[in-house]
Amino acid sequence: MAVEPVTIIQITDTHLFADNQECLKGIPTYQSLQVVLSDTANRFPYADAYLFTGDLSQDGSPESYIHLKELVEKLNKSCFVIPGNHDDLSNIKTFLTSDHVFLEDYTDVGGWRIILMNTQVVNEEHGFVSDRELKKLKTNIIDKTYNYLVCIHHPPIDLECFIDETRLRNESAFFDAIGTITGQVVVIWGHAHQEYVERRNNLLLLGAPSSCVQFKPKESVFVKDELPPGYRVLKLYASGRVDTEIVRVYGS
Ligand SMILES: [Fe+2]
Repeated sequence: MAVEPVTIIQITDTHLFADNQECLKGIPTYQSLQVVLSDTANRFPYADAYLFTGDLSQDGSPESYIHLKELVEKLNKSCFVIPGNHDDLSNIKTFLTSDHVFLEDYTDVGGWRIILMNTQVVNEEHGFVSDRELKKLKTNIIDKTYNYLVCIHHPPIDLECFIDETRLRNESAFFDAIGTITGQVVVIWGHAHQEYVERRNNLLLLGAPSSCVQFKPKESVFVKDELPPGYRVLKLYASGRVDTEIVRVYGS
C-alpha cells in the first residue's frame, strides 16, 4: 500500500447464506456479490484494500463465511472485516480470516489510520459501543492530528427511516471520543442499505449501499428500493483530502 491517494473499496451488507442460491428480498446475495466484486476488480484494479462493514452473513453459518472467503481471496487484496448484527464472530474468526482477510482493531495506510469497530450486541439488531470498544477507540486515536477512517456497522445518527430503531444506541459516547480529533475523520457504515453523505466540520459521515438489496430512504417501514447494488470508493490523501463516490452495478 502507499502510492497517493490510497484507494479503499467499501463493500457492505453482503448477507450471504449457507446455501449460495438463497435470496434476500428477492435478490440472490451470493451472485450479486460476485458481480459487484468483479466490477470493483475491473474498475479499480489498483485498489489498496477492501473494507467489509458487517452483515457479511445473513445466517451466521460456517458455509456462508467459506463462500465469502472464496470470493474475496480471488481479489488478491487485503480485506478487513467487521461484524454486523447478523454475524457470528466466532465463525468469522474460524472460517473467514486468512492471509488476505483480517479481523483487526486498526490498520495504517498512507497517513490514515483505519479503525475497525465492533458494535454488535449478540441476539439484538441494534448497535452499541461497548466499554471495551470505547477503550479501544480512545487508545487508537492517541495522535489527535492524524486522519482517521472509522468503520462501524450501525449508523451513529438518525437517517429518518425505519432503520433508526436499530441504529447505534449510544452514539454520544462514540462522538465524544472522535470529537477530540483535530485531523480529518471519516465514518463509514452499513446496515441501512442506502447512500448517505453529511459533512460536519472535520467529520465526514458516509453510508453505503448494500451489495444486494437496497432500502428506500426516508420510509418509516421497510420499502425495497429498486436501485441496483453498489459499493463506495474512497481515495484518501495524506493531507486529509478525501474523494469518494458510490458505484452502482447494473445487471447484478
Ligand atoms: Fe445490519
